[in-house]
Amino acid sequence: MTHSFPVQRSCPFAPPDEYATFRDEAPLVRAQLPGGKVWLVTRHAEAQQVLRDPGISTNPMTPGHPNVMMEEEPPTPEQLAMFMEFAIGQFIDLDPPEHTRFRKLLIPEFSLRRVRDMRPGIQEAVDTFLSEMKPGDDLVQAFGLPVPSLVICQLLGVPYEDRDFFHSRTRKLVMGDFTVLPEIRSYLDGLVTEAEKQPGDNLIGRVIKSEVLAHDEIVGAAVLLLIAGHETTANMIPLSVLSLVRNPDQLALLRADPSLWPQAVEELLRYHSIVDWVAFDRVATTDQEIGGVQVRAGEGIYVLGASANRDPRAFENPDVLDVTRGDRHHVAFGYGVHQCLGQNLARAELEIALRTLFERIPGLTVTVPDEELTFKYGAAVFGVEALPVSW
Ligand code: HEM
Repeated sequence: MTHSFPVQRSCPFAPPDEYATFRDEAPLVRAQLPGGKVWLVTRHAEAQQVLRDPGISTNPMTPGHPNVMMEEEPPTPEQLAMFMEFAIGQFIDLDPPEHTRFRKLLIPEFSLRRVRDMRPGIQEAVDTFLSEMKPGDDLVQAFGLPVPSLVICQLLGVPYEDRDFFHSRTRKLVMGDFTVLPEIRSYLDGLVTEAEKQPGDNLIGRVIKSEVLAHDEIVGAAVLLLIAGHETTANMIPLSVLSLVRNPDQLALLRADPSLWPQAVEELLRYHSIVDWVAFDRVATTDQEIGGVQVRAGEGIYVLGASANRDPRAFENPDVLDVTRGDRHHVAFGYGVHQCLGQNLARAELEIALRTLFERIPGLTVTVPDEELTFKYGAAVFGVEALPVSW
């Protein structure tokens, strides 16, 4: 049976209702997009299999890539040329061996050791923004967004004063408005050009000094890191706050035993799965069998990460938020060669931000019911637009 796709979440705390039906039907189901058919990967085991498979490409230029099927008309040669120009250095869209060159260079910047060294700086950012937050404020603007934004600015060497510019452009980008890409790129082009004259002690400076990447590649990688580095965690913090406030029994467990925080972070990542199929766009480059289904070269694939993370074959009572679960095999950060480069950093930010928030403001409440909150249903990264809090 062919399903129509995309489908949307109807509840902010669960994937789209259709996912359970897809998952029960088969590990791979057929879906119809406006411009063609794709495979949807619905279960955890097959999601990991696809994401680590060298016979499956992430490159949007590979024939049959599903993104071009989102529209009825395929992109024009002019649109493709523009896309190619702005895609340089976006290594999330590259396959090995091109991808490996970026990844090898950047892995040490996000290692566990490096992130451990960053923890005092993250704590300082968290403390500062918390001390400025007042009852009645929107937690997204006062805390959720500024913490990861300041941290990624400091790491990259991007001036935090420019945050209004890149926050507003990123916002448009995740809503599918790609016309802002040239602006973001030219902003970072300016910064990289300046840094090339005198590389600073920051990620961009170190990448320049390494002489591994060309100028345009550094700019593209910086665009990716700046956007991925703030927009994701900025959505996870407020959503996690909301789900913990709405599940006081889980919050009580964390209060009684703060050593549970690292595993609570894993569970919140799994439960919310803020990055779903939009990031997991793939295309088969060889014929192969996956989950008992014959997938042919040139057929597009979306991995439903949010479905894999609620697969009862992989997680007991998957729809329950359980901070004591202790499972780390979720695919909230993806899997395989593209598995989130910033995952150690994201974990540290989430743990420090959430633990400190609930320690310092034990009486934190969300001042409106869920029905009055606006959620980002159509965005590439799920989240809540604003979260009014008090205490
Ligand atoms: C809660 C926070 C985050 C979530 C849920 C998240 C999720 C993801 C996912 C699912 C992927 C895989 C995409 C794919 O397979 O194509 C990914 C890749 C990536 N993420 Fe994250 N991410 C988060 C935070 C961060 C942070 C803080 C950074 C820091 C710069 C970052 C940088 C990246 C980069 C550069 C990639 C591409 C990796 C590659 O292609 O090799 N992410 N992320």
